[in-house]
Amino acid sequence: MTPTVSASGLSLRYGGTRALDDVSLRLSPGVTGLLGPNGAGKTTLLRVLATSVPADSGAFTVLGHDPGTPAGRQEARRRLGYLPQTPGFHPDFTAFEFVDYVAILKEMTDRAVRHREVRAVLDGVDLSDVRGKRVKKLSGGMRQRVALAAALIGDPGFLVLDEPTVGLDPEQRMRFRELIAQAGEGRTVLLSTHQTEDVAMLCHRVLVMAGGRILFDGTPAELTARAAGRVWSSTERDPGAKAGWRTGTGSFRNVGSPPAGAELLEPTLEDGYLLTLDDAEVPA
Ligand SMILES: Nc1ncnc2c1ncn2[C@@H]1O[C@H](COP(=O)(O)OP(=O)(O)OP(=O)(O)O)[C@@H](O)[C@H]1O
Ligand SMILES: [Mg+2]
Repeated sequence: MTPTVSASGLSLRYGGTRALDDVSLRLSPGVTGLLGPNGAGKTTLLRVLATSVPADSGAFTVLGHDPGTPAGRQEARRRLGYLPQTPGFHPDFTAFEFVDYVAILKEMTDRAVRHREVRAVLDGVDLSDVRGKRVKKLSGGMRQRVALAAALIGDPGFLVLDEPTVGLDPEQRMRFRELIAQAGEGRTVLLSTHQTEDVAMLCHRVLVMAGGRILFDGTPAELTARAAGRVWSSTERDPGAKAGWRTGTGSFRNVGSPPAGAELLEPTLEDGYLLTLDDAEVPA
């Protein structure tokens, strides 16, 4: 499939920290998950791709536009939606006013058309009933949905979501998954998250980052397969385990190098992720 976002050699340093270290990637329509430990460089990568900070070196294109040029940057910005890790709400704005404000920044000048679109995106994230409520009076989950609505303004072809499901209860997370899956139909979505289940359930592709580098790029099934034969059950804690814990049934679930004849268990995507970090000697 032709990539909609394509990057090569992106690097960015903050003082002595290599936040991005020679990152290259190609994204296509659908939801791509971005996993990595705290400080891996996920937010930095999303900020660069959302054109909110420039990389020190490297290049990328968004839907055929080169954000390295002023004209290309403007075109790319018109076509992308960004939900930052900490959305900067004006707390006294209502949900409607906040999304309308973003729509104005997106150069939607016709008031009637704009208001129709603001109502439509708020409706899409089930916030019609509270659109007149001040953002500061909404729950955390509702606020995340306001931020998603704002990112969806203008029907962007590239949607950048930085940990949108953090702090949500299981029901809200499920609802958010539905919304993200819907958003990923025909759009390129890059979703940073610490929730390996979200990646297993939503994503057609997953990237694992650590230390500013991409350690893995493949399908969720391929990431899970990295842990095949490396998860086992035992009655005592196994010395060969990188991690092991007593489960609710009383037996130990171990991840690492099993002894001969061990009772192997079905791996999860989280096992594959943790072993990928471990193989690269990155502390999870
Ligand atoms: N504005 C900044 N100034 C200085 N250092 C920064 C800045 N932003 C990020 N860093 C550093 O760059 C590295 C990558 O940070 P980044 O926020 O991209 O990580 P992350 O993967 O998003 O982590 P988390 O999972 O905690 O959100 C970290 O070492 C961080 O301390
Ligand atoms: Mg982050």
